[in-house]
Amino acid sequence: MEQQVSAGIIGTGSFLPDQVLSNNDLEKLVDTRNEWICARTGIQERRIAQEDVSASDLAVEAARRALKKSCLSADRIDLIIVATITPDMFFPSTACIVQDRIGAVNAAAFDISAACTGFIYGLSIAKQFIKTKTYRYILVIGVEVMSKIVDWSDRNTCILFGDGAGAAVLGPVDPQRGIRFSQLKSDGSGGDLLKLPAGGSKIPCSQHSLDNGLHFLKMSGKDIFKFAVKVMEESTRDALKSCGLEVSDIDLLIPHQANLRIISSGAKRLKLPLEKVWVNIHRYGNISAASIPVALDEALSSGKIKEGSLVVLVGFGGGLTWGVNIIRWQ
Ligand code: UT7
Repeated sequence: MEQQVSAGIIGTGSFLPDQVLSNNDLEKLVDTRNEWICARTGIQERRIAQEDVSASDLAVEAARRALKKSCLSADRIDLIIVATITPDMFFPSTACIVQDRIGAVNAAAFDISAACTGFIYGLSIAKQFIKTKTYRYILVIGVEVMSKIVDWSDRNTCILFGDGAGAAVLGPVDPQRGIRFSQLKSDGSGGDLLKLPAGGSKIPCSQHSLDNGLHFLKMSGKDIFKFAVKVMEESTRDALKSCGLEVSDIDLLIPHQANLRIISSGAKRLKLPLEKVWVNIHRYGNISAASIPVALDEALSSGKIKEGSLVVLVGFGGGLTWGVNIIRWQ
């Protein structure tokens, strides 16, 4: 009988721009206060890319670090998936740009658009290719330069987001280890709650779109908040149930970092102690598709994840999209 394989993460890397934008800095840009931002979001500072830096620049650095940790040369990679809502441009894909710059000469490459859930989607896609033995090594990157699409005069949104990249190399692992379960969900009826209206084929760039700020991210914060708390709990429970596992089996939950209050409420509803939840939003804000891989890389470096740990990744965001990956660490 043919040997089964499982897909696991064999190395991670992340890259954050050096420039720090603190809440006090934001007080000089918009009508806001450090105390309000800390209390309502948990964010203290975020990283902002230089003006001439694009998504591929951050992605390439994260990818190189993940390859180094995996002890693989770039030519061993069969596929590159980049999850982003801030690609360098519509096409070529940012994945193709990364492929060229890291020298992954044998890799296919494409981008996916699932907003803050992008990395969860990317892992699930990569898992299928590895389990079916179509590909052996796959690089999944979550990268965002949110600073280029937020309206820096809108206090409702500009305080929330930051820039960064996280990457993971996936490969075949012991069948009892690796990604045990993935669940992807979407609800397009909520698409208007979080979107970037212009720049596509519906509202191409025009003087009107520029004058009306339609190239900036628009968000209905309260609705997204309620959706996020609900799906963080429900989808984590559903996914665990599908694997015959309980919340108490979780060693580490890595949720999308959108708001500390979302994370705390979700954990409370799950009855999961906060010590088992990775939180770094105070340092980076919401980095959309990059938030989970950056957090995962940090958690691994800190030693919090060990051989055999049960790690649950849960994401939610624009689309609306949400999803979970349950990983038994190899
Ligand atoms: O990655 C997924 C996408 N994003 C999210 O998950 C974000 C989800 N939403 C949230 O995190 C929260 O809804 C926000 C942090 C965006 C907003 O927090 P909130 O507690 O829902 O505040 P609010 O929008 O209800 O606003 C309350 C008050 C308003 O003033 P009035 O109308 O009560 O006088 C706002 O104008 O706070 C005001 N406000 C601010 N005040 C100081 C809104 N933004 C700010 C600000 N500084 N930056």
